[in-house]
Amino acid sequence: EKLEMFVDELQDMPKVQGFEVVDGVPRPRRLEIGMYPIRWKFHRDLPPTPVFAYGTSRSTATVPGPTIEALHGIDTHVTWLNYLPQKHILPWDPTIPTAIPSDRKGIPTVVHLHGGIDEPESDGHGDAWFTAGFRDKGPTWTKRTYHYHNHQHPGNLWYHDHAMGLTRVNLLAGLIGAYIISHPEIEHPLGLPSCDEFDHALVVFDRSFRVDGSIYMNSTGNNPSIHPQWQPEYFGDAIIVNGKAWPYMKVRRRKYRFRIINASNARFFQFFFTNGLEFVIVGSDSAYLEEPVKTKEMFLAPSEIVDMVIDFSSSRGDSAILANNASYPYPSGDPVNEANGNVMKFIIDREPELDTSRIPKKLMRYPSPDSSSASRTRHIAMFEYTSPVDEPTHLYLNGKPYSYPATETPRAGTSEVWYVINLTDDNHPLHIHLGLFKVLDQTEIKDLDEFKDCMVKINDAERCHLSRHAIGKKVDVRTHENGWKNVYKMMPGYVTKILVRFAYIHVNSSYIFDATAEPGYVYHCHILDHEDNVMMRPLKFIN
Ligand code: C2O
Ligand code: CU
Repeated sequence: EKLEMFVDELQDMPKVQGFEVVDGVPRPRRLEIGMYPIRWKFHRDLPPTPVFAYGTSRSTATVPGPTIEALHGIDTHVTWLNYLPQKHILPWDPTIPTAIPSDRKGIPTVVHLHGGIDEPESDGHGDAWFTAGFRDKGPTWTKRTYHYHNHQHPGNLWYHDHAMGLTRVNLLAGLIGAYIISHPEIEHPLGLPSCDEFDHALVVFDRSFRVDGSIYMNSTGNNPSIHPQWQPEYFGDAIIVNGKAWPYMKVRRRKYRFRIINASNARFFQFFFTNGLEFVIVGSDSAYLEEPVKTKEMFLAPSEIVDMVIDFSSSRGDSAILANNASYPYPSGDPVNEANGNVMKFIIDREPELDTSRIPKKLMRYPSPDSSSASRTRHIAMFEYTSPVDEPTHLYLNGKPYSYPATETPRAGTSEVWYVINLTDDNHPLHIHLGLFKVLDQTEIKDLDEFKDCMVKINDAERCHLSRHAIGKKVDVRTHENGWKNVYKMMPGYVTKILVRFAYIHVNSSYIFDATAEPGYVYHCHILDHEDNVMMRPLKFIN
């Protein structure tokens, strides 16, 4: 059965302030946010769906969860509480190498603030999971209450589950939410559209449903003799924005700001407007751009965030459909169909209105990238191990499983150049915890098969003569992806050079937390099905 599009109105998720105001002065706040099993209405004609939802209480829990609004420089403490039942609503695959045995007392969960620059103990390490009532805990669990410093630049983050080997099902079940750090003194003068009416976070993901409303996930493995359940990518047919399938939104004929988070497991979005309306991009991931960039297309891998302004006064018609044309898997897969090629519809007022918001010429100044200051260079190779039936069995980074001891051990506070070598057929969004990076260039690898054979054998980019192979086409980084990022799309058959700053935050020359503490951080592919199996490696800092 087909669901009708554009019949549910877009909603904003509930907002929770990450600070308190006492006598006019903002102060740190302690929050409690729970994970609850609830039923959620994704579409007018679909029965309510069993989901796992974040909320400050069961009755206010939503999918996605509440948007946490933090203030720059003011700490937010969150006690994350698990109220989930013994049994998962989605298949729990015991066959992937990182699987937590399913005889745990409850469902393992742990929350990561994606884009947050925070201590390792509060980073939501995959093995720091806990079950309902903390009855069971993972080996790196340290504490109940996480400390978010909010000391970084203003921008858009998101929080989501990160439990080892269960990340894809826990997010599919609904454990996702937006987190915005604002810094009014420097953001207000920019004059961008603001206030609840004109500034919206949009959390976008794809889901498939059964007729009874429940979430459908294919758990017949693509390679049954090795992974009876694991599929290399989850794709859903309905596109969900803020918890509604293909919603519509009534807008005035003026500028609006949207912060779009791609919270899909594996789907890339190439957004565009069917009537040619433009996006003016002001930020990507957790940082502003230095200058706004106009574009008609916006390409977002899983977990990438874009912050942008749409000026509906320049729309010719009374409605505009936000559409998607990214193939799936990207780029080697199927073209979009009617269902996943549509995202949402804007219904625009006839009458123009006075709009005092503006898009300034300059947005924010950041340290400029300086690769000469990099303290070292690393090669990060992505390749697939395939079975005789030619289906992927494991996706490893540098040929090592997650459990192999850390090989990426940067000195805290330094910068490094990483060459990310993608020897697979698909684009992998690489996400680095704690770091912020600039994409410097992307170069095609010549005689790829020869280089790949060598890498699969000895996994040493220098001895396999990367420099003799990295001589193909250069692909420019799109201007709106030129800023500081925490995740980026690694093109297949290319080597992508990035400059990563682990120069985390100091105040009066001392760091506000110890990045070298246990359990450290991770970096990984943000296609969740890859991350779980097991395209993730530890990232440990040393002094
Ligand atoms: Cu958005 Cu390690 O995650
Ligand atoms: Cu991947």
